[in-house]
Amino acid sequence: THEATMIGISDLSLATGHHVLDLAHLAQANGTDPAKYRVGLGQDEMSVLAPDEDVVTLAAAAALPVVQRHGTDRIRTLLVATESGVDQSKSVGVWVHRLLGLPSSVRTVELKQACYGGAAALQAALGIVARDPRQQVLVVATDVARYDVETAAEPTQGAGAVAMLVEADPALVAIDPVSGVHTSDVDDFWRPNDHASAVVDGRLSVSAYLDALTGAWDDYRAQGGHPIEDIARFCYHQPFTRMATKAHRKLAQHTGVDLDEVLLEPTTRYNRRLGNSYTASLWAALTALLDDPTDLTGERIALFSYGSGAVGELITGVVRDGYRAHLRADDNARSLDERKPVDLATYRALHAAAGARGSEDHDVPVSTSAPFRFAGVRGLARRYEGGA
Ligand code: HMG
Repeated sequence: THEATMIGISDLSLATGHHVLDLAHLAQANGTDPAKYRVGLGQDEMSVLAPDEDVVTLAAAAALPVVQRHGTDRIRTLLVATESGVDQSKSVGVWVHRLLGLPSSVRTVELKQACYGGAAALQAALGIVARDPRQQVLVVATDVARYDVETAAEPTQGAGAVAMLVEADPALVAIDPVSGVHTSDVDDFWRPNDHASAVVDGRLSVSAYLDALTGAWDDYRAQGGHPIEDIARFCYHQPFTRMATKAHRKLAQHTGVDLDEVLLEPTTRYNRRLGNSYTASLWAALTALLDDPTDLTGERIALFSYGSGAVGELITGVVRDGYRAHLRADDNARSLDERKPVDLATYRALHAAAGARGSEDHDVPVSTSAPFRFAGVRGLARRYEGGA
């Protein structure tokens, strides 16, 4: 039947760092009006990692509840999207695989194209399940957004991971086969191999994002995608949540259709507090939207992923009947609420230490209360273990 061929997302789980910085502290230190961050950028807080956290520990923490709920029998692929990789060769996924206790009969790989990697991983997962609908694919998007301090980009840092389970007859969202894509070589944001922080041209990055959005939309329509009137909600990649408003206005102008900006608000609730989580950001927006009490059963949602450099993709999907029984709204909110606040000096010290950390052997003391931790480097190899 048509129903049986639907493929999409059955579970969404969010994890973030041990610490949080209230951006009012940063505004005060910079002599900036706090409303510039809260209203102008649409950001309240940003997650800050403890020294014994990284993209591996975040990814494993996000995926653990998914594996606990669904078991591992049908998972044959683990795709980890990140642009904060910790090794030039070994996939972040292989450590995540071990921490989760996944069977050896699981293919594991890391995907990268700036913030777009999560959407690329989802598309690959959909293809794998289309070939063999008995299989499930575990997709994890995990990142730490890091810029130099005392730059315009500093308030748009953050960290987070979202794990999703992709399978046939999905519980949350059935993804439409059609999507729109747009690739163009742009130097708007990148991170050279020897840099701990990204290099960014802020103005160019915003315009490159908007160009990729209209390009992906036009391709979506050319491929037979749904008219804009069929789409009830829009989730955008949110480097800062105000970017979603800019994107929505651009799409309204481009299509000539009046789009309701108020409906964006539920998609921004987690990202206002996480900050930018690069590959995870769009999926945190989708998670926040579904976790909102409004019933979206049967509604079509658009998901726009943008990764600097640059690749954009416009994906649509339909919310499934009974989806609310499969949400994790309380756990997702708790991961944000339980973060330990840091003052500006502590955040800046953590930022400096993370930037200076080398790959030579060292031990890292316990700080995080997350389920997994980075224990240090031995024999030039990274060590991970169960946390508190
Ligand atoms: P900025 O210098 O803070 O920009 O840099 P601004 O001075 O134009 O201010 C921002 C907004 O605050 C403006 O609103 C101001 O009017 C407003 P807008 O004109 O944009 O609507 N404002 C105020 N509002 C209320 N009360 C006030 C007030 N004062 C000013 N008192 C910038 C902003 C985004 C450029 C900077 O933060 C940056 O460089 N961030 C990093 C790059 C970035 O996030 N780019 C986004 C697009 S690229 C992308 O999404 C990909 C990415 O995620 C990476 C990847 O793909 O891997 C970054």
